[in-house]
Formats: sequence, structure tokens, C-alpha cells
Amino acid sequence: MKGATRRGLFVSFEGIDGSGKSTQARRLAERLRAGGAEPLLTREPGGSPGAEDIRRLLVEGDPHRWSPTTEILLFTAARRDHLERTILPALAQGQTVITDRFADSTRVYQGAARDGGALRALVDRLHAEVIGTEPDLTLVIDTDPEVALARGLARRSGEDRFEEMGLDFQYRLRDGFRALAAEAPARVRLIDGDRPEAEVAAEVAALVAAQTARPPPSAPE
Ligand code: ADP
Ligand code: TYD
Repeated sequence: MKGATRRGLFVSFEGIDGSGKSTQARRLAERLRAGGAEPLLTREPGGSPGAEDIRRLLVEGDPHRWSPTTEILLFTAARRDHLERTILPALAQGQTVITDRFADSTRVYQGAARDGGALRALVDRLHAEVIGTEPDLTLVIDTDPEVALARGLARRSGEDRFEEMGLDFQYRLRDGFRALAAEAPARVRLIDGDRPEAEVAAEVAALVAAQTARPPPSAPE
């Protein structure tokens, strides 16, 4: 999206379902608050009232409720609203924005893991047209799918449309996130999620501190 000035740091957490990314996003926000900052912690799909409405359409119900193409349009619509109403205003005020999932989830879930990767070109075109913004830093919590599935299923929430797609799907997703880290190594960092929460959190904090120490990347887009 053009025209907005980004002054705050924009960090996304990514990973397969149950990888521990929400836990790490929350811990990072708590750590920054303890240091006197006022970060914004948000999530996708969702993060604004309109996008939360779209979230319900996406995460509840039959796993095959939407075609893959329709799903891409819904996730992108939710992201556009989240960006306009929540993320860009906070960044413009200089807040650090921490989001639990962003565009890499669409690249991997819709673009890489379904229909043999045929939809990645559509995902990329839509992103360029209506989103056009990347996080400054993306932390992929890279967790073994069997461990992650056990964590996720232990927590059943009624939002299991994606978890119900099975273990093979989770392996494809993990490969997709790893491929993104290889494609964009300066932005996307892999963090071993098969460790105690506090150890993962320490690595997250170190990467964010290193990013904060860099010169501001945030010229208007
Ligand atoms: P995600 O957001 O990736 O789906 P969550 O952060 O919600 O994952 O974590 C899923 C479950 O696993 C939660 O019950 C959480 O308390 C637990 N959990 C998170 N990180 C770890 C960890 N490093 N070790 C063990 N359990 C964890
Ligand atoms: P989320 O609430 O993060 O689930 P979890 O905590 O289990 O990881 O996201 C809901 C589901 O939506 C999740 O299975 C991933 C999926 N998703 C996509 O398929 N594409 C997307 O662009 C996004 C943001 C999420």
C-alpha cells in the first residue's frame, strides 16, 4: 500500500499450526512493554473489526467450504482491512507492530501447500496490487509437525478448519516456510521451535534487538 510513512518496527511471526508462534508473539510484546515501549500485538486473519468478521468465515466450518482461489481473496481482503485500520496507523505513530501471521501465511498455505503450488502467482499478484507491504522482520517458529499438531489439538478451539487438513499438509507447510526463509534470508529468519518457550523467546529477543539496531528501513513505500 503506498503513501504511508512507517516509523515503527513491523515484526511478523509465522509457522505451522501449534508451532508456538502466538506464545512467542505475546512474550515479545510483554518483554517490550517491560522495557517501557507500547507495542501493538495483533493477528491474522483478523486484527481489525472487519477482518475479525472475515476470520470467522475462514476458520470455522467444513475444511472444503471455500475453493482455494476464494480463500486467497478472503485472506487478502482481511489483510487489506487489517493493514489500513490497524497496522499502518500504529507504524505511523512509531509503535512496534507484532503480528501473529501476515502475508507469508498466504504464500505458504494458499500459494505453496495447496494445488501443487499453482496459486502462488495469483497470491503474489494480489499482494503486489493491494498489500504491497512487508514486515521488517519475519520470525518463523520452525517446529516439528508432530509436536506442533499435538500442541494444537490439545488446545481445540472450534477453529480447527486448517488443523483438520492433517499431518502431511503440516509437513508441506513447514517446507514452504523454510523455502521462504531461503528466498528472503535478510527478512525471514528460522527459529528452532522444538525447545522450551524461554529459550525460543531469548532468540526472538536477540533477533529483534539486532533489527532495532539497524538503520531504519522504513522509507515510504
Ligand atoms: P500457534 O500460535 O503457533 O498455533 P501457540 O503459541 O498457541 O501456537 O502454542 C500452542 C500450544 O503449545 C499452547 O498450548 C502453548 O502453551 C504450547 N506451547 C507453545 N510454545 C511451546 C514450547 N516451546 N514448548 C511447549 N509447549 C509450547
Ligand atoms: P491462526 O489463528 O494463526 O491459527 P493457529 O494458531 O492454529 O496457527 O490462523 C488460522 C488458520 O488460518 C491457520 O490454520 C492458518 C490459516 N491461514 C491461512 O491459511 N492463510 C493465511 O493467509 C492466514 C493469515 C492464515
